[in-house]
Amino acid sequence: MGKIKVMVTGAGGFIGTKVVQELWKRGCEVAYFDVIEPKIKGIKRVNRGTILDQYDLALAARGCNYAIHLAALLGVQKTDSDRLECLYINIQGTLNVIEACVKEGIKKIVFSSSSEVYGDQDKLPISEENPLNPKSVYAVSKIAGEEYLRAYSEMYGIKYNITRLFNVYGEYQREEFVLPKFVQRVVNNEPPIIYGDGEQVRSFCYVEDAARGIVDALLTDQANQVFNIGNDREPISMKDLAYKLIDISGKSIKPEFVSYEESDRESSREIEKRIPCIKKAKQVLGYEPRFPLDEGLKRMIAFYEENNKK
Ligand SMILES: NC(=O)c1ccc[n+]([C@@H]2O[C@H](COP(=O)([O-])OP(=O)(O)OC[C@H]3O[C@@H](n4cnc5c(N)ncnc54)[C@H](O)[C@@H]3O)[C@@H](O)[C@H]2O)c1
Repeated sequence: MGKIKVMVTGAGGFIGTKVVQELWKRGCEVAYFDVIEPKIKGIKRVNRGTILDQYDLALAARGCNYAIHLAALLGVQKTDSDRLECLYINIQGTLNVIEACVKEGIKKIVFSSSSEVYGDQDKLPISEENPLNPKSVYAVSKIAGEEYLRAYSEMYGIKYNITRLFNVYGEYQREEFVLPKFVQRVVNNEPPIIYGDGEQVRSFCYVEDAARGIVDALLTDQANQVFNIGNDREPISMKDLAYKLIDISGKSIKPEFVSYEESDRESSREIEKRIPCIKKAKQVLGYEPRFPLDEGLKRMIAFYEENNKK
């Protein structure tokens, strides 16, 4: 196999930054693509541009043989309030990325989809075989991206894998997500705020583990498959998560409970339990999450102590 050259869209983002570093660890070259500047130094090919522009994309994809597509509009509040923008960027943008990959002769693309495509499920943990049950335009936009990829692969032979990521967390995650919000408040001696009764269950996956799963899905011989990527070991309720964080930080505060009516969130939008089954990624990719939740939370606290203390 010749040199692996990977175009990474959304390479400046929270997960993208770690994906770039993981690709370097595996000896790959990276062509950076994002609307924003890189957060890290040392990237040789930096392409600033939007996935809504096919010319920008073609320039970035040129000379690459692989692609990882992460650029997207995300975040519950943003994607629910700017619904049409979310659909436009995530669907048209993904279509543009796939087009550019086909035109520039890219062999294989990994698309980062989301556990949101599953919505509410009776059968837990959620495997790739569970039915899709989207509850938001964001989830619909991810399903559309998956389907375009399948169709393009049928038509033009481009190979792909889809990674459905489950609740990724870590340093540099954007502030509207639950863990950055919790950690930010805890390091500032303020109570973390829980919506509803705090019984919603999630299984959090540290960003370096997610990045490794994405790169595993790229470099495997297997193609045209869907893989859940997450941490199956430590499902936790929001309430217990808040207490765990307070405990690790050593602060003497208690979480504050806010009803959905008083919050900026809709209870109907909330998914009660989301726990991944990652058996397929383990068997096919040899993927294994390495970071226990405690370790990831300690890293986040240290990061916020240093960077985001008021
Ligand atoms: N964070 C999670 O828990 C999670 C879970 C499931 C799926 N995902 C998916 O993983 C991917 C990366 O998410 P993230 O958490 O790193 O978010 P992020 O917002 O940090 O990264 C997204 C990146 O895409 C870029 N981007 C947005 N619009 C663009 C455009 N029009 N053109 C070019 N670049 C654009 C942004 O500048 C940003 O750097 C996304 O596709 C997201 O849907 C994330």
